Amino acid sequence: MKDLILKLENEHFLKDDEFKALIENNNEKTDAFLAERAVYIREKIYGKDVYIRGLIEFTNYCKNDCYYCGIRKSNANANRYRMTEDQIIECCKTGYELGFRTFVLQGGEDGYYTDDKLVCLIKKIKSLYPDCALTLSIGEKSYESYKAYFDAGADRYLLRHETADLTHYSKIHPKNLSLQNRIQCLYNLKEIGYQVGCGFMVGSPFQTTESIIEDLKFIKTLNPHMVGIGPFIPHKDTPFKDFEQGSLRLTLRLLSIIRLMLPNVLLPATTALGTIHPLGREKGILSGANVVMPNLSPVENRGKYMLYNNKICMGDEAAECIMCMKRRMESIGYKVVLSRGDFKSN
Ligand code: 5AD
Ligand code: FES
Repeated sequence: MKDLILKLENEHFLKDDEFKALIENNNEKTDAFLAERAVYIREKIYGKDVYIRGLIEFTNYCKNDCYYCGIRKSNANANRYRMTEDQIIECCKTGYELGFRTFVLQGGEDGYYTDDKLVCLIKKIKSLYPDCALTLSIGEKSYESYKAYFDAGADRYLLRHETADLTHYSKIHPKNLSLQNRIQCLYNLKEIGYQVGCGFMVGSPFQTTESIIEDLKFIKTLNPHMVGIGPFIPHKDTPFKDFEQGSLRLTLRLLSIIRLMLPNVLLPATTALGTIHPLGREKGILSGANVVMPNLSPVENRGKYMLYNNKICMGDEAAECIMCMKRRMESIGYKVVLSRGDFKSN
């Protein structure tokens, strides 16, 4: 297995059967070696720096009905909210004063925020905080919409592809959603000039090793700036409520594999990872991740943006969250850096 890991480190890719062997090799020693190589590669490029992003979950309305997601439109138990433009700007202000230089506006696919409203908001944030990067994570839109947000000043876009395996995609999404469109969105975003992030859940229902290999191949081909992966965690009001959560070990292994595949990639240790294990995010960093995304949303909304059960950081004000994150990173010998944290292309 060590040979395979070194091959991945040197060639940044493997054959299907080699990936399969590595993904299914549930061995602590191998995982430790894999993580060590991933950390070595990450440190050559990013040192011990961990980039921090301020996440603003500005709406939990969503027109989609993904079977895994707690804010799917059919979840009548979801307590819906939308933040106003002023509330969003206020969040940015708080974040800016705390030192954040990247804001991530994330939300469900909510038609209330028309392109005109979004363009206006993006322009406002970029004029108030021109030294900050603005990331959008608001789902599938037309090429023209993406272009309009980009021209208004948005820098980055996160759109997890969720799974690159067509059959798997159809098992976790309703019929009106298509993998083809999602992938087209990602290529459109890249063409427009965004720094782009894709990603998937680890251990989502019906995922197989073959689906994961498809994900890795897709990621290699897309060659994104960011890859967001985290364990699937069931949400009690979704059709997937009785499925098991994704495995910590497999998530960490995949973080290391992705680091070796794309040495420069921005790789978050996600909130979902922190949710399934109290030290999940620390373990993520120690497996090759280099980004954390604490929540900047107002505490009164936190509990409502529930994509999955038991989500962490529910009661903590932004200031507490950032302090907690700094402490956590320092405890493992890393340093949270307050900069835009752009992709390094060598
Ligand atoms: N468990 C883990 N992650 C989830 N997401 C949505 N629902 C869940 C869940 N139940 C992820 C999706 C989405 C991102 C914002 O959150 O991958 O793209
Ligand atoms: Fe939010 Fe620790 S990172 S409370």
